[in-house]
Amino acid sequence: MSEFIIETHDLVKKFGNFTAVNGLSLQVPVGSIYGFVGPNGAGKTTTMRILTTLTRPTSGGAFINGVSVLDDPRAVRRAIGYMPDEFGVYDDMRAWEYLDFFASCYDIPLAERKKLIDDLLALVDLSHRREDMVDKLSRGMKQRLSLARTLAHDPSVLILDEPASGLDPRARVEIRELLVELAKMGKTIFFSTHILADVSEICTHIGIVEAGQIIAQGSMDEMRAQLQPHREITVTVRDAEAAETVKRTVGGLTGVVNVVDLEAKGGRYRVRIDYTGDDDGVAALNASINNAGVSILGFTEETKDLEAMFMRVTKGIVT
Ligand SMILES: Nc1ncnc2c1ncn2[C@@H]1O[C@H](COP(=O)(O)OP(=O)(O)OP(=O)(O)O)[C@@H](O)[C@H]1O
Ligand SMILES: [Mg+2]
Repeated sequence: MSEFIIETHDLVKKFGNFTAVNGLSLQVPVGSIYGFVGPNGAGKTTTMRILTTLTRPTSGGAFINGVSVLDDPRAVRRAIGYMPDEFGVYDDMRAWEYLDFFASCYDIPLAERKKLIDDLLALVDLSHRREDMVDKLSRGMKQRLSLARTLAHDPSVLILDEPASGLDPRARVEIRELLVELAKMGKTIFFSTHILADVSEICTHIGIVEAGQIIAQGSMDEMRAQLQPHREITVTVRDAEAAETVKRTVGGLTGVVNVVDLEAKGGRYRVRIDYTGDDDGVAALNASINNAGVSILGFTEETKDLEAMFMRVTKGIVT
């Protein structure tokens, strides 16, 4: 049995002449929070619709828990909770009726439903709105109610299409917290977004999709290594002479691709070293600067935010 709870192999989906998903292979580890990231039209929703058995692939394989979506769609549907990108048209129900409706669709016995609905409403912090009509709820509340609905049959995998789209920053944070809580409950979460800030806060894994293909995938750490071959180390020293010594010392070392003066700040001089080596190499750089007699006031490695990495990767593909 695979360690990957969601897997696709060379997935292709064509709409007429247009190829929306173009040989897409992804692996989602059990228990991960996997951010499926990409620009508009990249093929995220189409991939999710294949995984949830709503659309048939043109070719390739898609598996949940090792079960092919084509071979046993019913088993796949039992294992997953799906939150589509649109809320749907159920506005003439109360919040609890909405959940009751979906619970009954999953054949959950009447006797168990009341407790289930209470638990779900509590989980998404909507207990106090249980009698409200759905169309009177705020967008953030609707998203949380929709998330509650995906949990009705206690699936092990959640497939969420843009769960935070259209929400204000506060509501977005609430959704993030909820996803983290669900992961703690043992659920694997696969969600799409094109907002990188959301991803960097909570994801354990990411796949970047562009024009129907995965162009980078892995754990957050692997992604950093994959997308950031250059480490940027900033060395702060006391004066211009020390800065010159730093530049001279590291200039010829293996792995050092560039050395530049940064603007002096508060009387301090700063040198930036672009470096391709590993952690041991970084330590060795530090030691050689020390050995050259320079007092190091600061030695920091810049971690590029995910957005910068993302921009870099997609730019490389487009041009
Ligand atoms: N039923 C369809 N018929 C024709 N083309 C389609 C259909 N569904 C999707 N497409 C096209 O396939 C491409 C991928 O669409 P998809 O909705 O999967 O992208 P997405 O990554 O979810 O984008 P977004 O971030 O905007 O939600 C788009 O160009 C879209 O227009
Ligand atoms: Mg979409």
